Amino acid sequence: MKSIRNAGIVGVGSYVPPRVLTNQEMESIVDTSDEWIVTRTGIRERHIAGPDEASSDLGLEAARRALADAGVDPGEVDLVVTATISGDMIFPATASIIQHRIGASRAAAFDIGAGCTGFIYALTTGAQFVASGMYETVLVVGADTLSKLLNWKDRTTCVLFGDGAGAAVLKPVPEGYGVLGSVLGSDGSGTDLLKVEAGISRRPASHETVDSCLHTIRMAGSEVFKFATRVMGEAALGVLDKCGLRAEDVSLFIPHQANTRIIDSAARRLGLAPEKVFINIENYGNTSAASIPLALDEAVQGGKVHPGDLLVLVGFGAGLTWGACAVRWGNGSDD
Ligand code: ACO
Repeated sequence: MKSIRNAGIVGVGSYVPPRVLTNQEMESIVDTSDEWIVTRTGIRERHIAGPDEASSDLGLEAARRALADAGVDPGEVDLVVTATISGDMIFPATASIIQHRIGASRAAAFDIGAGCTGFIYALTTGAQFVASGMYETVLVVGADTLSKLLNWKDRTTCVLFGDGAGAAVLKPVPEGYGVLGSVLGSDGSGTDLLKVEAGISRRPASHETVDSCLHTIRMAGSEVFKFATRVMGEAALGVLDKCGLRAEDVSLFIPHQANTRIIDSAARRLGLAPEKVFINIENYGNTSAASIPLALDEAVQGGKVHPGDLLVLVGFGAGLTWGACAVRWGNGSDD
């Protein structure tokens, strides 16, 4: 093993399925309104995967784009880590499917399941492999198709989610750049607040589980809301403190896109001006593990991220889980 070094994000990419489902269309599916959805969540439309599109299909395209952005050949990738809670199958891992289809022939692969915090967990894990010296090139993918896990008769959940994928390529960068630090957390006492209960070992699939809608997402929305408004600010301040940084140092805050009211409350807690907070929920809804890399890619492609910038990425989700990463963009050569 080599000594500890920094892992930087050297390429990003994202992909959403072409089918757009607007709030107006949602009004014909459940008893809801564009006005309710926009004022309570900030969502105007979301992208929905087709019957033949699975999470690996979205993740594969995001990964291709991230590798092209980084100028990295798939054969150079040492490890594929995929954050997902809606993988193609119960097993094998969706990461292995992406690893094969992208041609990362010598890469190891595994999935991480931490709900909507999955990308923060996966980025932190991938960065550790680079930092330790075990691997040079890690591909981190966040891919979810929660539309496949929704009860389309439950208006309290089906209006909130969308499908998508985002990816990042990690490589060693000079000290002071890349992933400067992370905080990760879990409180399993909140298991029942957000879950898909049936389909594996606790409640194997049966006619009864299907009839009772136990294969779809159930969420205690207001409980998750209270948890999220607390942990998002705490996790962001926690990672800054760990890195010896302050909220004033943040160039761009890239939060999990679940609800603009949750994001606004975290931004207020950090004292961040609106231009330092990246929000794209209106076009995508909550894309689970894809939301943060999708937002990061859009911010980068939109010219909102510059070499030397300090980014704070923060997520929360099922588990309950939460996490944050502080990232210094670039590698020092072009600051
Ligand atoms: N359209 C119209 N009315 C609705 C809808 C809808 N789609 N959904 C709920 N309502 C109604 C409710 O029935 C309720 O009516 P009532 O007062 O007559 O009972 C009313 O609106 C208010 O419902 P609340 O649940 O109190 O609304 P709230 O302001 O809390 O907003 C929401 C609900 C948007 C779900 C909010 O609680 C939230 O965002 N929670 C966090 C969810 C979240 O972030 N989840 C993702 C976690 S990430 C992961 O790991 C997958």
